[in-house]
This record gives sequence, structure tokens and C-alpha cells, in this order.
Amino acid sequence: MNGTMSDTSEVSVPTLAPWLVRVPAIFEGILPEILASVGAVSTKRLGQEYCWIRTPTPDAIRDSGGGIFVRWNLPIEHAWPCQPAKIEGFIEKAAQTLKTKFGDRAPQGVFVGPLHPTSPDRYFRHLAANLRGRLVLLFPGLPAKTVEEQEPDRETLFVLVGKEGLYAGMATPRSANGFYPGGSRYIAQHEPDTISRAGAKIAEALHYLRLHRPPLAAGSHWLELGACPGGMTSELLARGQRVTAIDRAPLDPRLAGKAGLTFVHDDVARFVPPAGLSYDALLDDMNGPPEESIAQVIRLSRFLKEGGLVVFTLKLPRIESIGEPLALLRETIDTAGRSGLRLTAKTHLTYNRHEFTLFFERC
Ligand SMILES: C[S@@+](CC[C@H](N)C(=O)[O-])C[C@H]1O[C@@H](n2cnc3c(N)ncnc32)[C@H](O)[C@@H]1O
Repeated sequence: MNGTMSDTSEVSVPTLAPWLVRVPAIFEGILPEILASVGAVSTKRLGQEYCWIRTPTPDAIRDSGGGIFVRWNLPIEHAWPCQPAKIEGFIEKAAQTLKTKFGDRAPQGVFVGPLHPTSPDRYFRHLAANLRGRLVLLFPGLPAKTVEEQEPDRETLFVLVGKEGLYAGMATPRSANGFYPGGSRYIAQHEPDTISRAGAKIAEALHYLRLHRPPLAAGSHWLELGACPGGMTSELLARGQRVTAIDRAPLDPRLAGKAGLTFVHDDVARFVPPAGLSYDALLDDMNGPPEESIAQVIRLSRFLKEGGLVVFTLKLPRIESIGEPLALLRETIDTAGRSGLRLTAKTHLTYNRHEFTLFFERC
């Protein structure tokens, strides 16, 4: 055959799975490349950061390199493109349909979020809350009554609503990459109490990590590299953790004398822990070349207990295409892996900017 097909030839057409993906606005400039990298063959924008895609390779959303740019994802098993405000009895109609469609699949919980999470218009946040209220009555005896009670590996019914309609599907929080619909957990940052924006990053990172491992015990000892002014330090101390914080800049004076805190005012490269001391976790948020940061993490990781946790902020130099950040990511993971640090998770958190957060365990 020379490429032509007779009328009776069978052509196998790949099944295209409809999927909702959330790509943080900070990656807007490379959105088409990101979507292509996860196999999207058709795309439609929804809400603030969402796209409805169709793909023959949904696994690529979670497993391909480009998947790290996808903050959260959900198979679309039910879509109602409509303008909810114009539909009389929207909540009741939506709730009854969802009950009919998903009632037999025993979700662990049912959670509803807005497609425009940071919009000042409160209409859809109220709509999401009211729809959830009705769904809870229609799905009695849900094991996870709150978002926090979910198990990472049990299926949840997630629903998103906005001026573009309603989109729903079942997924485990781990496969969706977050416990909340849309993946973002709001973390209050009240000036003037907040020491730095980075505090929200570690708060979110610790919450996110519950998708992959149990939380650290109270009193666990953290070694923190590049700690100043101390937003992350303050969050860790507030969670009953002990912290040895190192920075060549000074810590915020509000942290002076805090119980559980040791501050080392020096360059990280010169730091050697006191003899016999080992740590439960290592946190790195140093600015500067990422190759130097990971080198310090590797050097100091030999003072971690076996199974000890590393939370590493990988600062991305520039984002003009997906190629460069992905190459840096791969190189960092490989370098760490060769030195006994096993990657357990990687993501772009809501409170990350031009950076990824990587989680390792010491083998
Ligand atoms: C992004 S800030 C960290 C913010 C911090 N995580 C917080 O929660 O407030 C980066 C810090 O890394 C520190 N840093 C970078 N390289 C360092 C080095 N070699 N030794 C010590 N501190 C370093 C800088 O002084 C700066 O305070």
C-alpha cells in the first residue's frame, strides 16, 4: 500500500479522554507548549487557570516531564457547559445529576470549588458552598466530611463551578495532585505578623506532602538553609518543630529567643553540624545558582537520619520554554539521586513563583 486506504480499511482512532488541567498563571507564556507536552490534542480555556483538554495519553498529565507544570488535574466525567446564574434551580438540578451519576461509586468525600478561585466576585464561591451543602445531604455517610479527612489514595468526587458551567470527576487526591478542588489550600498571611511570603510556601508544602507520606512528629529537628528573614522558620516553630536555621543575612528580630530555634549567622558552605547531631529534615530555600544549592543539600544530607526528609525549592533562572526548566529539574533529581536522595514528589505549589518544590528522602 502506498499510503492510500480502501473504503473498507479499518482505521484505529485513539480514544480522547476529556481532562481538566490547572496550569498556574505564571506559566501562561509557555501554556501551549505545556499542553502539547502532556498530549493535549484539543484545548479550551476555562476559568482563571484551567483548560479542558482532550488527550489520547492522560497518563502523561501525571507522569511526563511537562506534567510538573500542571498544578492539578481531573478526568472530566460529567460536564454541564452552561451559565449557572441563568438556570433556575441550578443547584438542585446539578446535585441530582451528580447523585445519579456518581452515587454508586462510593466517593470518600464530595468537594466543590470555583473555577475562578481568586475572583472578587463571590457569587461562584457561594454557589460552590451551597452546591456542596446539598451534595452532602444527597451522599449521606461520606467518610471524609472535611477536605482534611481525605485519604490520599481513595477516590473523591471533585466538582468545579464557574461562569463556564460545571465540571466533575472522580480521582484520588494523590492522582489529582491535591486535596482541594483545584489543588490550592488558602493560607492566611496577615501583615504585619507575616515575616515573609515564604512562610505560606512551607505551610502549603507540608500539607501537600501528606499526599505522599505521614507528617513529621512533633519536636522533629529541621536544618534550614537560607532561612532569612524567617517566614518558613516561623511556620515550622509554630508547628512544634525544632529548627537550626542558617543564613548570612540576619533573622527577623521577632524570632529572637524563640523556643526550639538555633540560628547560625554564616555562609551555609562553612556550616558543619556539631558532632553526633543528626536531623529529621532539611529545608533549602537559598537563592543563587541551583547547582550550588543542591550541592550544599547533598553535602549536609549525610547528617540526616535514614528516611529523613528534604524539601528543596528549585529556583528557575528563566522560563522561556519548557525545555530549560525541565533540563534543570532532571539534572537536579539525577544529581541528588546519585548521592542517595530519592525523589518522593515534585510540584509547583500555589505559593511558588518561578520555582518548583521537590521532596526527597535519604536512602
Ligand atoms: C529567598 S530567601 C529565603 C527566604 C526564607 N526561606 C524565608 O522563609 O523567609 C534566600 C536566602 O538565602 C540566603 N542565602 C543564599 N545563599 C546563601 C549562602 N551561601 N549562605 C547563607 N545564606 C544564603 C540569602 O541570604 C537569603 O536570605
